[in-house]
Amino acid sequence: MKQFPTNFLWGSATSAYQIEGAHDADRKGPHIWDVFAHTPGKVHRQENGDVACDHYNRYPADIKLMSEVGLKSYRFSISWARIQPDGKGDPNPAGIAFYGKLIDNLLANDIEPWVTLHHWDLPAALQMEDDGWLGETTSDHFAQYASICFEHFGDRVKNWITMNESWVMSILGFHSGLFAPGRKSADEPYRAAHNLLLAHGKAVRVYREQFKSQGGQIGMTNNCDWRHPLTDSEADRAAAQRSLEFMLAWFADPIYFGDYPAVMREHLGDRLPKFTDEEKEMLKGSSDFFGLNHYTTMYAGDVPAGQSVENGEYANGGVFSDQHVALTTDPAWETTDMDWPIVPWGFRELLLWISARYQRPPIYITENGCATPDTLLAGEVDDPQRIAYLNGYVGAVHEAIEKGADVRGYFVWSLLDNFEWASGYDKRFGIIHVDFKTQQRKLKSSAHWFRKVIERNGLA
Ligand code: GAL
Repeated sequence: MKQFPTNFLWGSATSAYQIEGAHDADRKGPHIWDVFAHTPGKVHRQENGDVACDHYNRYPADIKLMSEVGLKSYRFSISWARIQPDGKGDPNPAGIAFYGKLIDNLLANDIEPWVTLHHWDLPAALQMEDDGWLGETTSDHFAQYASICFEHFGDRVKNWITMNESWVMSILGFHSGLFAPGRKSADEPYRAAHNLLLAHGKAVRVYREQFKSQGGQIGMTNNCDWRHPLTDSEADRAAAQRSLEFMLAWFADPIYFGDYPAVMREHLGDRLPKFTDEEKEMLKGSSDFFGLNHYTTMYAGDVPAGQSVENGEYANGGVFSDQHVALTTDPAWETTDMDWPIVPWGFRELLLWISARYQRPPIYITENGCATPDTLLAGEVDDPQRIAYLNGYVGAVHEAIEKGADVRGYFVWSLLDNFEWASGYDKRFGIIHVDFKTQQRKLKSSAHWFRKVIERNGLA
């Protein structure tokens, strides 16, 4: 029996655009994912989140399902464009009312809300008028929006996450163009990331200066794969370290140490924006906990200076060349439906790396899970692949705790099958099956497995 620490938090996670639907209900404004998904060629089969899981209307039933699974906490995101339809100005009462009811209903069911303020759905007006995350004013608008949320929900919400995965917003949004706003640039990712960090810092400052008496905690959630050295050579070991710094320390170093990693400053020179002394001060120590999303592992090999990595399967130019790292996987590794390798030990290694670099911060796994194709057998969804994945990854969390990491909670991604961004509805991450035609839900066998883990507070 692998027992977890008492009070370990077991939960599930979702995000607004992926489940809510009701895309234009009650004065909600359009956001960049509404626009992106409605642009031909951007999303698999031209799907979109207009209806998604219709959670906006079905949330009471969904919360009952959470209770059935025995979840103690639930991480969801607030859609900025429901609160401020154009990203600025007075709050929209209907948006405030919706999240207020959701929060009340969770608390009535003994489920602790963990609220993400920004999970990629920037109000479209800010993209047009202020150049979105490339513009200098967006971070101030974000702090104002955050302040509205603290004011209206902070009496009941004690756990806040400013940003979800700034790496994805920066790289997929501004380098590969695969995600909204769909830009393809070598330098814009660094500028967008800079403004995302400033937005985080400004929101945390507002929280700590004006809402301290609410007694909650606030932090940022970042995503990172484990990067394992391709060989034991010194060059490859340095490449793996560099790759982790370009992925995770890019965002975590500023909020723990006040500045970007030295290796990024060296490699990028003037292409990497600089923080003023005041901004460094604002960012340093601006996370009460380390929010981590983790899914997979890759090998990192050194690419000598002057040699291009344009042809690597995963590392194609731009920000990947900047690191002088080529990423590969082991063909022997099993993969999920997203083609992501399943490597539980990589999770343990990453948690220990974080613990060592950031002096053992309290870590919450705010996402971990996998996509598997669901087949209904006599009305039941049996997903042994997901159970195996979760068993391996939750086991790796346990090993990391035994080796000294301070991991305090685990949120499975995801509660429901949902709109998986550019992959549409094909990729199913939920522990609860959703039939998108009838909106019927059904607990998968992984949900039953997870309930037992929660009951035992451990793995058998
Ligand atoms: C994360 C993201 C989630 C979810 C998940 C699975 O990057 O935060 O919204 O889509 O990946 O791909």
